[in-house]
Amino acid sequence: MDDRTTLRRKLLHYLMGTSVGATLVAIFYPILKFMIPPPTSEATQNSVVAGKVTDLVPNSGKIFKFGNKPGLLIRTASGEFKAFSAVCTHLDCIVQYRPDMKIIWCACHNGQYNLSGQNIAGPPPRPLTQYTVNLRGDDIIVTKG
Ligand code: FES
Repeated sequence: MDDRTTLRRKLLHYLMGTSVGATLVAIFYPILKFMIPPPTSEATQNSVVAGKVTDLVPNSGKIFKFGNKPGLLIRTASGEFKAFSAVCTHLDCIVQYRPDMKIIWCACHNGQYNLSGQNIAGPPPRPLTQYTVNLRGDDIIVTKG
């Protein structure tokens, strides 16, 4: 074998190697990017406008977004506003206000919380996280902590 043949072979191997490598990267990189989503940062906001005072009649509740998590805003029968994390402490279902029973209720396994967020019946092992509620004009401001 002369030097020109050897050189041609090395060049061919190099080109084959890089094109195969590039093809593999072009195929698998998008698949890996899809399968491993970028890390999402937890909401850094500490307070949100959860709604308007006029949104809720006494003895009602509504779900609001606190960053990327749901929250539950309640106007009690006496007109007091309360807010909690709406994520059940059992298996993370979304809780709701039950005006007929005047409790916070989880439909998944009949979990029940009182209007202080304490788990009172069913499987939930812990109370709901309670938020602070303040009114600013007609806005209902919910704050963590
Ligand atoms: S997830 Fe709420 S009671 Fe099971």
